[in-house]
Amino acid sequence: MHILITGGCGFIGSNFIRYILSTKPNIHVINLDKLTYAGNPANLSDIEKKFPRHYRFVKGDICDPQLVESLFQEHDLQWILNFAAETHVDRSILGPDAFIKTNIQGTYILLEAARKHWLHPGAAGSGAKRFLQISTDEVYGSLGAFGCFTETTPYDPSSPYSASKAAADHLAKSYFRTFGLPVLVTHSSNNYGPYQFPEKLIPLMIHNALSGLALPIYGDGRNVRDWVYVGDHCEALLRVLEKGRPGESYNIGGRSEKQNKEVVAFICDYLDRKLGSPAAGPRQRLMKFVTDRPGHDQRYAIDIAKLHRETGWQPEVPFEQGLQKTIDWYLENAAWVQAVRDGSYLKYYEKQYGKRLTS
Ligand code: NAD
Ligand code: TYD
Repeated sequence: MHILITGGCGFIGSNFIRYILSTKPNIHVINLDKLTYAGNPANLSDIEKKFPRHYRFVKGDICDPQLVESLFQEHDLQWILNFAAETHVDRSILGPDAFIKTNIQGTYILLEAARKHWLHPGAAGSGAKRFLQISTDEVYGSLGAFGCFTETTPYDPSSPYSASKAAADHLAKSYFRTFGLPVLVTHSSNNYGPYQFPEKLIPLMIHNALSGLALPIYGDGRNVRDWVYVGDHCEALLRVLEKGRPGESYNIGGRSEKQNKEVVAFICDYLDRKLGSPAAGPRQRLMKFVTDRPGHDQRYAIDIAKLHRETGWQPEVPFEQGLQKTIDWYLENAAWVQAVRDGSYLKYYEKQYGKRLTS
């Protein structure tokens, strides 16, 4: 069984590839990734060696219709999981262009290819085929103090990032309603775990706290995110592929609402306990409240009842345990973090795969 994973060199995609290849011995993964700054094939170097006949890496852009077409011609693709995206809200505020191209147009190119290959008269085995659009809870906008996002919460995105993901979701859903393409959409809350690029809150704070740098907390630090461990997210995605209903959306969350300042304080305290407090004083002294992000959503919280009811999934990793595991991973993989921070990871893949496509 061949599956196309886009954006598989990023944080969640690489965790999913590792998970699916260890869980399903009959799966062949084709990983299409453009290798933007966020894509790091070193995330999967062990997987390339361990599963040489079950893993193929293709360096390329989901916005390239000829390349996507060639992959559909070469493989009888059963599932498509579209992880590929520009994902960082702050970058979308500085420059939305790449977000519009990859997140909207790229999704359209993939949908069109799937439509052409899966829905023509006489197409084989379409019952088992699935197009999984990996979306975000951020399409729902911001919550006040109470309540949770359900799958019927109206879309109300705040940032160019979430607006571009919302547009892609609407396109994907329209391909189900109009053409009958077996599309499913998942809305996960904030993930954390190994291989997350150190621009996102948790890995950035771990890195800065270890380096004695300031820990910039936007606004008053009371914004709430509902954190889900990346391994739990991967398991939820497999459940959705196997048990979810085409045309439906499923929310994925960790039942772990935390204020940003609590998360940062936890990281500081854990590092102090584990490594000892620096001579200058406990790491919490590095916490700095800085100018807020424009359009900063106040609170995300996810109702996972639908996914639980239909697939039995629920998150297994409690936040404190998952965060300790994550911090330990970053401590044990200091060379990975260092290569990303100093840019040498770019050289690694330029050597292996040629010049990068983007900066
Ligand atoms: P990431 O930024 O770590 O990785 C994105 C990957 O996509 C990179 O490997 C990058 O090279 C690749 N990519 C970007 N543009 C591409 C293009 N045009 N063609 C091919 N590949 C391209 O992202 P992530 O955090 O792993 O997120 C994966 C998906 O999950 C995204 O769709 C994101 O919107 C969604 N999501 C993420 C979170 C989270 O907390 N990280 C939460 C909910 C949903
Ligand atoms: P982030 O990891 O960028 O994810 P998202 O914006 O997609 O939720 O940010 C998580 C939360 O942390 C969000 O409320 C913004 C906040 N934040 C900071 O306070 N400081 C930072 O340096 C970053 C990157 C994020």
